[in-house]
Amino acid sequence: MSEERSLFCQVNKAKDSNNMTDLEKKHTPVISVPAEIRAGETVEVTVEVGKLLAHPNEPGHFIEWIDLYANWVFLARIDLSAVTTQPTLKIPVTIPHGIENLTLRAFERCNLHGVWEGTVDVKVA
Ligand SMILES: [Fe+2]
Repeated sequence: MSEERSLFCQVNKAKDSNNMTDLEKKHTPVISVPAEIRAGETVEVTVEVGKLLAHPNEPGHFIEWIDLYANWVFLARIDLSAVTTQPTLKIPVTIPHGIENLTLRAFERCNLHGVWEGTVDVKVA
């Protein structure tokens, strides 16, 4: 018996980042950060939802929050409101020491389409 999993039963991710569906484009958080940073340097990290394809921002359908993690360590969260706030998290981040494999990981939740993840790899020298 096959049963399609609900968007609310999992963390959703784009299946093929080179060939995304409209649903994936609207919901996948896009993280902007330099590809390489220095330990102790403060860089601005921006997470945008709807950058690839605009997501609705209305009372019945909007982005509720965005979280940012360094690997699995929590960095920041922003709670959002329909209509009046845009789904963008922008924050200065300082990684205090070198890390060989750092993945910045953003999660966002749409009230109708669940939690979505976007990642980017960063070299911290
Ligand atoms: Fe949505």
